[in-house]
Amino acid sequence: MEKIIALLDLDYFYAQCEELRNPSILEKPIVIVMPSIRENSGVVATSNYLARQKKIRSGMPLSLAKKLASEDTIFINADKKYYFEVSKKVFEVIDFYVEKVEQVSVDEAYLDLTSPEGFEKAKQKIEKIIAAIKLELGLTCSVGLSSTKFIAKMASSINKPNGLTIILPKEVEKFLKKQRVSKLPGVGPKTEKKLVQKHILFVNDLLSHSVEEFIPIFGNVKAKKLIDFSKGVDEREIIPNREKKQLSRILTLEKDTNSFDKISKKVSFIVPIVFNESKKTGKGFKAASIILVNSTFETITRSKTQVEEITSDSELEKICLNLLQSYLLESNSYIRRIGVRVSNFDEGLGVQKKLFDYK
Ligand code: TMP
Ligand code: CA
Repeated sequence: MEKIIALLDLDYFYAQCEELRNPSILEKPIVIVMPSIRENSGVVATSNYLARQKKIRSGMPLSLAKKLASEDTIFINADKKYYFEVSKKVFEVIDFYVEKVEQVSVDEAYLDLTSPEGFEKAKQKIEKIIAAIKLELGLTCSVGLSSTKFIAKMASSINKPNGLTIILPKEVEKFLKKQRVSKLPGVGPKTEKKLVQKHILFVNDLLSHSVEEFIPIFGNVKAKKLIDFSKGVDEREIIPNREKKQLSRILTLEKDTNSFDKISKKVSFIVPIVFNESKKTGKGFKAASIILVNSTFETITRSKTQVEEITSDSELEKICLNLLQSYLLESNSYIRRIGVRVSNFDEGLGVQKKLFDYK
């Protein structure tokens, strides 16, 4: 089956996280700083697009960023703990939709969207994921969708921010030819300089060269990779590195409400979706939670862990509705969003194993 790979990359991640928790800074240039032990010193971790317009970029010394900044530029010290929490939530959404996920950094992952239904289905799926990350967490990302890791990665950077770029297998050759060699993985400034000396500026220029020519300059491995990439060849598989620890689904209510009837309808709608997803993992789970986001955007979680696995959606529904009822009795806040989460997965075969054991 033809491989279909997406590279999902959250836009200007640390800065977007800051915009998320403090919308009053939206529309302003934002620079996230990794402070140094020396006073007034540090390096730029990232910047939002308004700051990038002023040429303030990742890796730049703070002193230079301050020279380039306008008066309304906001400098914020990096709060990695918070960014990792946000990242965790993003990956929970991704894990819900995709079985094979290779996380490569706090804000980037390869997703395996291979299926017999091909690219059209993969496109629909990735659009769903992008929309869910936006709706559930308020974050934008950029995605590349293609048949290899490196083309997916290259494609992801074409329509940043908030862009989806699809390069179909039949389009790869044309797409690659016009790219600068510096866009290929492993081609940094030093390699680029050596290639430019040989009048190789674009991937198209690489096509008339052989591996043998490059071995003395770059060594065996790099020379082969360079030629492979220039032809669109990349055999690297997605190596799933995320263990599913929980599954959740969250929905926005039509109107903020504290009515049990209205909220419970959504819970009853979400429960079978989450339950069916959990079955796909082949693992049983013992904990159920409801997630509530109130009208002031606070997130509240109420959980219950059973001694035995939860083996039916009606059992899950009952637990969630009980949790909802007791929450509404003790709180008078209005609910904006409601979610259901299952967690505490076992290592066995879950529901299947349990049925088998009882035979
Ligand atoms: P991004 O901002 O381009 O999305 O990059 C992802 C995050 O990685 C970014 O928000 C902060 C972190 N980062 C650094 O700390 N230093 C760097 O040089 C780069 C490129 C990113
Ligand atoms: Ca990013």
